[in-house]
Order: sequence, then C-alpha cells, then structure tokens
Amino acid sequence: MSGAGKLRSEEAWGLGLAAATKQQSRKHEGYYSAMRIVLAGDHSSPELKAFIAAHLVAAGHQVDDLGTDSTQSTDYPLWGAAAAAKVVSGAAELGIIICGTGVGIGIAANKIHGIRCVICSEPFSAKMAREHNNANMLALGARVVGPELALMIVDTFIESSFVGGERHTRRVEEIIELDDGRELPLP
Ligand code: RB5
Repeated sequence: MSGAGKLRSEEAWGLGLAAATKQQSRKHEGYYSAMRIVLAGDHSSPELKAFIAAHLVAAGHQVDDLGTDSTQSTDYPLWGAAAAAKVVSGAAELGIIICGTGVGIGIAANKIHGIRCVICSEPFSAKMAREHNNANMLALGARVVGPELALMIVDTFIESSFVGGERHTRRVEEIIELDDGRELPLP
C-alpha cells in the first residue's frame, strides 16, 4: 500500500473507533451479541473497510479482514469468493464485502454455493435481507455510500436476524433448491 493509502486507512480506523464508541454509549449494554465477521474488498475498499472493521471490533465483534489493504488494482471476484468461502465453511457467521459499487463483488459472492449476498446502499434492504431472505453476506459500494451510511447499513444488517415462519422459510428453501441446481415448478 502507498504511504498515503495507509495513512487514510489508519485515519479511517480511528474514525471508526470513535463512531463505535459514540454508538455504544447510545445503546444499552449487551445490545450487541458478538459475531464472527469476515471482511474483504478490492482496491476501492481499504478506507471504508478499515472504518467498518474498527467499528465492529470496538463493538465487540471478531473481525477477520482478508484484505486488500492496497489501492493497487485487483479483481473483485477473488475477494468476494475468499470471504464467501469463510462464510460457507462456518469460519465466519456473516461476510461484508466491498468494491466500487458493491455490484461486482456481490454477484461473485452469490456464485458461491450457500451464499445469499445482498448488495445494498440503504438500511431497509439490509434489514429485510436478513429478516426475510436470511442473507449471510452484505456487499457495499465504497463509491456509493459514505462512511456513516455504511455503518448504519452494517449495524442494521448484523443486528437483524431471520424471522423464520412458514412463508419465509419456504422461500429461502426455494433459493437453496436453485443453489443446489434443482428446478422450481412454475407457480
Ligand atoms: C473496479 O474499478 C470496479 O469495477 C469495482 O470496484 C466494482 O465497482 C465492480 O463492480
């Protein structure tokens, strides 16, 4: 990583810590239950990724940041697949991945068997993706969302959980059928 790139990441880390501390003081103790979260992203991601990592660590989560920490051009599918592998293996409960738009890395992650990755830039979809779709990965666009909006999306994503019930369970099971290569009947 270039000196300037590194400095930006370190600054982002500090800002992330400050944001997390502020947020925790607003929330009652024990609000967060610690999770194992894997982070990864391409060359557009280091600053936002460091900001998010600092926030998650300060909130008590276990963070596995796979990289990249460099602004040198790199291919987003590799990072999406690497984070997805951690989620599928159970090494991480959730994954957060970042590219310029979130689109490419999210599409790549969704090619990995067992991954349900939501690409989103606002908290409502992040919440619904967990509650209704039981999403296990979140893809963000570093060139789309600002850092504070990103934290709001991340927090909403990790604090929401699958609501279950017959309707949503059936639909997620249908997604799993597709993921397994089986055809669904016409409605
Ligand atoms: C890389 O320039 C850019 O294409 C990538 O970060 C991402 O936005 C792709 O979807």
